[in-house]
Amino acid sequence: MRVHGTPYRTLWMEGGVVRMIDQTRLPFEFVVVDCQTHHETAAAVREMVVRGAPALGAAGAFAMAQGFAEAPSVAPWPYARDARALIAATRPTARDLFAGIEHVWSAAEASPHAPADAALAAALAFAEASVESCRMLGEHGAALIPSGARVLTHCNAGWLATVDHGSALAPVFAAAGQGRPPFVWVDETRPRGQGARLTAWELSNEELPHAVIADNAAAHYMSRGEVDLVIVGADRIAANGDVVNKVGTLAKAVCAREFGIPFYVAAPPSTFDAATANGASVEIEERGWEEVHYQTGPDEAGAMHRIRVTSPGSPARNPAFDATPARLVTGYVTDRGVLTLDQLRAAAAGTDSARAAAGATGA
Ligand code: MRU
Repeated sequence: MRVHGTPYRTLWMEGGVVRMIDQTRLPFEFVVVDCQTHHETAAAVREMVVRGAPALGAAGAFAMAQGFAEAPSVAPWPYARDARALIAATRPTARDLFAGIEHVWSAAEASPHAPADAALAAALAFAEASVESCRMLGEHGAALIPSGARVLTHCNAGWLATVDHGSALAPVFAAAGQGRPPFVWVDETRPRGQGARLTAWELSNEELPHAVIADNAAAHYMSRGEVDLVIVGADRIAANGDVVNKVGTLAKAVCAREFGIPFYVAAPPSTFDAATANGASVEIEERGWEEVHYQTGPDEAGAMHRIRVTSPGSPARNPAFDATPARLVTGYVTDRGVLTLDQLRAAAAGTDSARAAAGATGA
């Protein structure tokens, strides 16, 4: 992505340090933070300095490489095992985090005389492959977006949710690059506001037409014929095609079906989980109540404030994700093309050449 004319990835590794754009401070401040150790990278994942499933894949891979680099060279495995457990315990839902960790771990195991070198090479390769998958799925998904289309998206599945290019927004950026800039409806995405803060910031950066809407406004625009297609990302796609994504995705899928609007899910291979049968089997992260009770932002003079937005004393609940049944998904936008549910199920069963697109990395 370009920020003030300079190209950036969401996160990258430089001399053993993991560097990332601090997503907790966007859109009000653009800051790059450095994580020197696997402990610091894991903390950044836990605190959502970096977030979004494909970006978490790279973060997990980089953190695991840091763990191997820090481990005593005579007996690296106990230290590396502890590092793996710590990184894996940061966030439970996105499959990509575990795909990144496992990819690096396997490479180190296969190279017992130089596990740290193998881990670093594997982590860098994992991130590069993720970038290329997102670029490719953007190219395939762009064909779904006709001239003048109005696309609705939920949460942030743009550049910032990936190492680069985005997942749900990759087709939007690719279509714009082909001279067909769509209009994007941006769901605010309470409680953390990834749509209002991050997706809107990315689209503004690219000067693409868009409007932020309250989460509960999407059905209204769908019912009036003002949404042509929905594209969302995913945190985990189960073997039966069920899609676990940011909470609120399910409601959009139900509405899209009601009003006859195509509903697409875009994801790189690391998000597909052939080992999990269905969406109901996926652990849904339950986050702190304070995210529902409080909002943070600048006043007109630019001073940041944290304010309460719910009735004092009321309890809250805060599931971070929900599961959308496969029957509501029109197609899966992958780096191998746009797959139907049948193609996806064949891939999960290992009976189809699309297997690599739908589970080989994520399995
Ligand atoms: O909690 P987050 O911000 O890490 O969740 C991210 C999402 O759920 C996004 O909607 C996205 O589709 C998955 S990442 C491309």
